[in-house]
Amino acid sequence: MFDKMFNGDLPLQGTDISVRWDFLYYFLVWMSVFFTALVIGGMIWFAIKYKNRPGIKTKYITHDNRLEVIFTVIPTALLMGIFYWGYSVYHDMTTAPANALEIRVVGKQWLWQFIYPNGKVTAADLFVPVNTPVKLIMTSDDVLHSFFVPNFRVKQDVVPGMYTSVWFEAKLLGRHQIFCTEYCGTSHSGMLGKVYVLDPQQWQDWLKGKKLPPIPMAGQELATATANPEPMAEPIDLAQQGKHVFESRGCVACHSTDGSTSKPGPTLKGLIQNEIELADGSRVKADDNYIRESLERPQAKIVRGYTGIVMPTFKGQVNETEMAALITYIKSLN
Ligand code: CUA
Repeated sequence: MFDKMFNGDLPLQGTDISVRWDFLYYFLVWMSVFFTALVIGGMIWFAIKYKNRPGIKTKYITHDNRLEVIFTVIPTALLMGIFYWGYSVYHDMTTAPANALEIRVVGKQWLWQFIYPNGKVTAADLFVPVNTPVKLIMTSDDVLHSFFVPNFRVKQDVVPGMYTSVWFEAKLLGRHQIFCTEYCGTSHSGMLGKVYVLDPQQWQDWLKGKKLPPIPMAGQELATATANPEPMAEPIDLAQQGKHVFESRGCVACHSTDGSTSKPGPTLKGLIQNEIELADGSRVKADDNYIRESLERPQAKIVRGYTGIVMPTFKGQVNETEMAALITYIKSLN
């Protein structure tokens, strides 16, 4: 009974966050049940007890300070408590640990593409190691999509032209369903995929391109296992690909990568995740979205001490894979 009450019909709990969400969810459900019973029950009870009877006139009551204080203080304290509870889970759900493994995601009509730091690319299926924080940095090639893994209780819109992210630390081995949860056209409902949560040995094997054993759906027997996608040809490290983009697109002419300031543009060494001072004196944190914006609209946020007039826009000239490689390369300079 208790088990049903607190983990009834929700999907598997594949992360610690999912356990915390479910506890909050069931607390809200059962609190609502309790107060509904209290209010409706009280209403029925009073309707019967104080039914109109001939000859009896109800006392005229204007107020009751003690009751009014109780009606105000208890719900306020309860709501503040729920707010704090919800906020703390939300905060931990949205703040990825700094050491998280970064995997890039491109949503397109109608599949998910995953780009790994070692340069591997997979479609529809995401491969991650168990018990390891994984941060997905996501964007879209066309329209709005939304990335959702019910077992992990994480969901995030995937938006063309900018980066959004989710993170999770998977606890349950096996395959987990991925859905797109933003209507994105004809085959929206077919925009599916699986997260393969691998043990450390399988993860190393997969990285090296070895064939994995069949992997069952999480929480189920091997009977549900299907053949795995074929390992692909030897990938080229994503940062290495980014270095190539950096050199072939001419970035190298104006930006140093070793911290020296002799070139016309600011150096890219140590840029990511640092606060930079802009020409107008304000400060921004250099993250994925800042780099993307600086490539597409170079004049938007100019670093203090530079004019920015030399930098051309690269909007529409680098595709999402090149952009992912370039940003990974810039991150690797830290
Ligand atoms: Cu992509 Cu719905």
